[in-house]
Amino acid sequence: EQIRKGNFEHFMQKEIHEQPDSLTMTIRDHLKTIRRSRRILFIGCGTSYNAALAARPVVEEHSGIPVTMEIASDLLDRQGPIYREDTAIFVSQSGETAYTLEALEYAKSNGALCVGITNTVGSAIARGTHCGIHLNAGCEIGVASTKAYTSQIAVIVMLALALGVDSLSTQQRRNAIMDVLYNLPSKVRDVLKLDRDMKELAALLMEEQSLLVFGRGYNYATALECALKVKQVSLMHAEGIVAGDMKHGPLALVDETLRIIVIAIRDASLNKQQSVRQQLKARKGRLIVMCTEGDAEFMCLIEHCLQPMINIVPLQLLAYQLTVFRGFNVDQPRNLAKSVTTQ
Ligand code: G6P
Repeated sequence: EQIRKGNFEHFMQKEIHEQPDSLTMTIRDHLKTIRRSRRILFIGCGTSYNAALAARPVVEEHSGIPVTMEIASDLLDRQGPIYREDTAIFVSQSGETAYTLEALEYAKSNGALCVGITNTVGSAIARGTHCGIHLNAGCEIGVASTKAYTSQIAVIVMLALALGVDSLSTQQRRNAIMDVLYNLPSKVRDVLKLDRDMKELAALLMEEQSLLVFGRGYNYATALECALKVKQVSLMHAEGIVAGDMKHGPLALVDETLRIIVIAIRDASLNKQQSVRQQLKARKGRLIVMCTEGDAEFMCLIEHCLQPMINIVPLQLLAYQLTVFRGFNVDQPRNLAKSVTTQ
């Protein structure tokens, strides 16, 4: 559409006449439109979906708007209802994933405000959305997404803060989150020092058939993303489980042979996660507990809602080391592609 001259003789002529529309798009206050929306939908595939899931609680807390999560293909399969009053946020590292792109066309045709969060300027999703945010995470080559994941969460957290009301009652919390956000790179640098420990852990786990990862609250997405990374590159069966659902099935799998990672970081879910840990232990599960170093002291240093960006890093290292030990292709796992442009 944009590259046709339509009824005009020249592109220059057409573009001069387009200015009422282009200026409207430039100055339109999209934040205001999002704030007024009835619902926010996050739509994506794979790791991008998990990133949005990790940031969902922050968006809910600060915007006060109901947030629903959609795996792009499932939304399309169901032709799930989308309305003009909705804001649909498309999360995609490449900006080219076929299902996400088709879901964008679908949401647009239903009149929703469409926002893109991509890492690729000029990508189909960046071009097709009404407005968007560029991750600026730099080129990501490995098929399994890692650095885009943490940047996606950071961008959505910043969007959540922008949507929130800047009042006296929220100021302290907003400032605390901003402070921690700015310090995030150094915190990530700290956890990267766990590389050697993760190598040792990988050596211990390399022969396993299966790995369960239990997380909850802010770290539900961390469990899913850890399992996805392990599956994608080390080709080991792994399942991320929301710990609150343990008794509805996963517990039946637990015996003295099963390896389980329990994410029990000091946050609002810690007590519940400790009880999960005890119950898994009582069934003789072979637990690896991911916990906070120096507990109470560290607890004050980092906002709980930002922990997913830190916690995933050692787990990414674990998936990487497992893959190296198992002798598989780290950057191009079998059967997978960096950008899935066909359905
Ligand atoms: C493929 C990649 C994943 C990625 C997913 C979504 O499956 O292997 O790493 O998370 O696509 O890609 P996108 O570019 O839309 O984030």
